Amino acid sequence: MSEPPSAAPYGGPAAEAARKPVTLHRLRAMRAEGTKIAMLTAYDAASARLLDDCGVDCLLVGDSLGMVMQGHGSTLPVTLEQMVYHTACVARGNRSAWLVADLPFGSYQGGVGQAVASAVALMQAGAQMVKLEGGGWTAPIVAALVERGIPVCAHLGLTPQSVHALGGYRVQGRGEDAAAGLRAQALELGEAGAAMLVLELVPGALGAGISAAWPGITIGIGAGSGTHGQVLVLHDMLDITPGAKPKFVRNFMAGAGSIAEAVRGYVRAVKSGAFPDDAVHGYGG
Ligand code: KIV
Repeated sequence: MSEPPSAAPYGGPAAEAARKPVTLHRLRAMRAEGTKIAMLTAYDAASARLLDDCGVDCLLVGDSLGMVMQGHGSTLPVTLEQMVYHTACVARGNRSAWLVADLPFGSYQGGVGQAVASAVALMQAGAQMVKLEGGGWTAPIVAALVERGIPVCAHLGLTPQSVHALGGYRVQGRGEDAAAGLRAQALELGEAGAAMLVLELVPGALGAGISAAWPGITIGIGAGSGTHGQVLVLHDMLDITPGAKPKFVRNFMAGAGSIAEAVRGYVRAVKSGAFPDDAVHGYGG
């Protein structure tokens, strides 16, 4: 297959001129000025190009691809080699969006040396930032990556790689002790140098509280409207994923005439604050 064409085929006339690249500096400025950040998952070149052309700020090559693309029941079987492959595909399709790639299960649990080697592989495939799950024990890994010039996104709350330890895909941080634990972990990861933090499936008040106190950029998924940005799994918000979806998902295909229209609707809804609607998509403490 040939290299992707340089003209924007998906986004309509407004997307014909490529956007200025979204940088970490720009994302920090967006946080500071209160402009919400729109992130979606992408696993292949064509969807990466479409999302980029539709104004999505950040693409996440999530290990959710294990469930979405590969049909597994969890993210645990995904390998580093597979993440490198999908990251390279997305990087070839993307032109401007900030590209985050997940360190999969088993690629950093072995400690700093393993984590650095795994993160290097993702960065060489085209990632601009790597994401890893968990608090506490990951802080030295975050610090080592940041010291080596690798931007890091942390991930707290529901961390799907720990699904068996957590007893299922359930809301985290409910009750004062659990909330205080997550707040402390977030601060520790911020001090270690994480520039971005995904908060998944936590009460809206906790998501907002951490976002107000945290020095970096928070991106929520089922974490209420108070985070600096939002992320959804692309196949969930396009209603491709079969079966019942968690209540934090909104079907953006409903009423849209095309995938591009649905994605532009998502970007608009995140930026205007219309999504998420805490009364519909949020969780109480
Ligand atoms: O793998 C993934 O897609 C993720 C998001 C759900 C945040 O980690």
